[in-house]
Amino acid sequence: MENNKRPESMERITNEKLAKAFIDEQVALVKKQVGNKKVLLALSGGVDSSVVAALLIKAIGKNLVCVHVNHGLLRKGEPEQVVEVFRNQMNANLVYVDAVDRFLDKLAGVAEPEKKRKIIGAEFIRVFEEEARKQEGIEFLAQGTIYPDIIESDGVKAHHNVGGLPEDLKFELVEPVKFLYKDEVRVVGKELGLPDGMVYRQPFPGPGLGVRCLGAITRDRLEIVRESDAILREEFAKNGLEGKVWQYFTAVPDFRSVGVKNGKRTFAYPVILRAVNTKDAMTATVENVPFELLQHITNRITNEVEGVNRVLYDLTPKPCGTIEWE
Ligand code: XMP
Repeated sequence: MENNKRPESMERITNEKLAKAFIDEQVALVKKQVGNKKVLLALSGGVDSSVVAALLIKAIGKNLVCVHVNHGLLRKGEPEQVVEVFRNQMNANLVYVDAVDRFLDKLAGVAEPEKKRKIIGAEFIRVFEEEARKQEGIEFLAQGTIYPDIIESDGVKAHHNVGGLPEDLKFELVEPVKFLYKDEVRVVGKELGLPDGMVYRQPFPGPGLGVRCLGAITRDRLEIVRESDAILREEFAKNGLEGKVWQYFTAVPDFRSVGVKNGKRTFAYPVILRAVNTKDAMTATVENVPFELLQHITNRITNEVEGVNRVLYDLTPKPCGTIEWE
């Protein structure tokens, strides 16, 4: 693929000064590439798409049309943060699509992990395509492709198991961070004024909580995953583990077990905690979380999250477990 090799002369972006120079250069390049035409971007709220959004807002303002698809599988507070940061603070042209029911209806009764992924990916493209067709005069598609995406895959942001947009919606690509490594994207994002919670976010799979609500997704268990994940994240942040542990989350199986609360028998779901460290996600080790903290998190989840009566800590490295449960 031509033009997909990072120039050898390119200095590693490690500080504010280099980030600022990169931003100025890209703003000029984007302006030159798109002129006064419109650009479309799928804005998930993840680091890469958020940095591209902030960069393009700086370059072309409202001619960037950001589409945020809420598929109901995002973490607690994420869709709200996208609206707050991009629409309210950065004055972006943001289309917010509430597609929660649509995704959950499509996923109802589907238990096989790869089938779930395919449905989520295909539905995402369909929703995005519909929004693209509603817009007039779009000539460019911005993508948060970063350099590892190019090295590790076929040169476009790899959406697992997903095809692309149909032929008549093949726009010219705008990929301003395609030669950057993740750490550089974060430095640039910080310089662009994005909040730390967005810039230093841990990796989050495209199918989101869909692969952590194990088996066929139900709304009650999805709520348990979202609420327990929020507690885990809050406690990790409070206890200095945010930014130290590579990835941490909760998963909820599709079976219940017997417990007891206030002298009464319960029949409720377990929550599994996972916290791992890795360099490249190919192998991973389990974080040695202090036992007292695990006990405290267990207490909070069993008391604050409706429908949970047990909490388990996954001690399995990769291999032989994968990082996600599905
Ligand atoms: P596993 O579970 O394979 O995960 O050990 C390795 C890393 O990949 C993430 N992951 C995904 N990311 N779409 C994504 O964008 C997916 O379908 C997907 N499945 C796993 C996982 O969160 C971990 O960081």
